[in-house]
Amino acid sequence: MKKIKIGAVGLGRLGRKHAENIAFRIPNAELAAVCSIVKEELDEVMKSWNIPHGYTDFNEMLKNKDLDAIAISSSSTEHCNHIIAALDAGFHVFSEKPLGVDIAECRRAEKAVEKHVDQVFFLGFMRRYDDSYAYAKRKIAEGAIGKPILIRCYGLDPVKSIKGAIAFAEKSGGIFLDLAIHDIDLARWYLGSEAKSIYAVGDCFTYEEFAKYQDIDNGAALIQFKNGAIGMFYAGRTCAHGYHIETEIVGTEGSLRIGTVPEKNLVTVFNDTGAVKECVGGFLERFEKAYLSEMQEFINCIIENRKPGVNVYDGTNATIIAYGCKESFENNRLIILD
Ligand code: NAI
Repeated sequence: MKKIKIGAVGLGRLGRKHAENIAFRIPNAELAAVCSIVKEELDEVMKSWNIPHGYTDFNEMLKNKDLDAIAISSSSTEHCNHIIAALDAGFHVFSEKPLGVDIAECRRAEKAVEKHVDQVFFLGFMRRYDDSYAYAKRKIAEGAIGKPILIRCYGLDPVKSIKGAIAFAEKSGGIFLDLAIHDIDLARWYLGSEAKSIYAVGDCFTYEEFAKYQDIDNGAALIQFKNGAIGMFYAGRTCAHGYHIETEIVGTEGSLRIGTVPEKNLVTVFNDTGAVKECVGGFLERFEKAYLSEMQEFINCIIENRKPGVNVYDGTNATIIAYGCKESFENNRLIILD
C-alpha cells in the first residue's frame, strides 16, 4: 500500500495530536517530517516517534520533495502564508481553522487553491466529521424538523485552560475567529445560507489580559441569515464545568439538540455531593474521533483523487462572518454584509 508522506507544521496543543494520528492511526499515511519554531517540542517529537526530518523553518520543510502533503496546525495568523507556500511548492494541504484572520488573506488562499486544481486542499472544520453533528445534518436533510429557522450555539472553553487561551490570544484572531468560527461554519452548513446582518457584544468580564489584543473573554452575536433564519452564538473562555459545546437547531416542525449536557461518558456518580455527571474536559477529548476522521478523509481524498466536502470557500465565508462579529463588537454597530 502506498503511504502518503506528510510534513506536519505546528506541534502545539492540537498539532501534536494531528501528528500523532498521522504517525500511528492512519494506515495509509506516514509522518515523514515535522516543523515547529519551538525547538524543544520539535526535538521531543522527533526523538520519541523516530521521525527522520525536522525543521524550525517552514520553507526548509517545503524543499523536501520526498513529501506528498503538508498538515498545517501553526498559529492562526500563519495559516494563509503556510497554505499558499505549500500549494505553490506542489503539495496537497490540510489546514486547521480558521482559514485566515482577515478576508484579504483568505482571498489570497482561494487564488492559490484555484491555481493548483490538481492538489487537494482540506480545511479542518472537524465538527462536520463528528458522528453527532453529521447525524444531525442527515436528520435535517431527511426533513425530520422541517425547515430550519433558528440555530443556537454555545462554544465554551473551560476556565481551567485560561492560561493557554491568554498565551494563544495574540495569534488567535480573537474569540469569534478562534472559537465561534466552528459554530458559524455549522450554521452555514445546516441552514444552507450566508449571513446578512450581524450584531455582536462582549467584554473582558474576568480576564483583562485579553483587552490588549482587542479581545474578550465572553461574547455573543445575533445574526440574520439571507434566507431569514436566525443565529444566536455564545462564545466564552470561562466555563466552570468543562468544555461545553452545545448546538440547537429549531425547524418549522421540530428541533434537535447536540451536546445539551456535555457529558464525559455514561457514568453518574452518586455520593454526598449529589448525582453527578462529569463533563468533557476539552477539545481533544470531545472531538478525538473527529480529528482522526477528518485527517483520514484528507488522505482518502489524495489517494482517490477527489475534492473534500469542506472547501476553501467555506473557510472564507466563515471568516467573513466571524470577522463581522469582531467588527461589530469592536465598534458597537450593526454590520450589514453584501
Ligand atoms: P499552539 O500555540 O499550542 O501551537 C502552535 C504551534 O505552531 C507551535 O508548535 C508553534 O511552534 C508552531 N508555529 C507557529 N508559528 C510557526 C511558524 N511560523 N513556523 C513553524 N511553526 C510555527 O496552538 P494550538 O492550540 O495547537 O492551535 C494551532 C492551530 O489549531 C490554531 O490555528 C488553532 O485555531 C487551531 N485549533 C483548532 C482546534 C479545533 O478544534 N479544530 C482546536 C485547537 C486549535
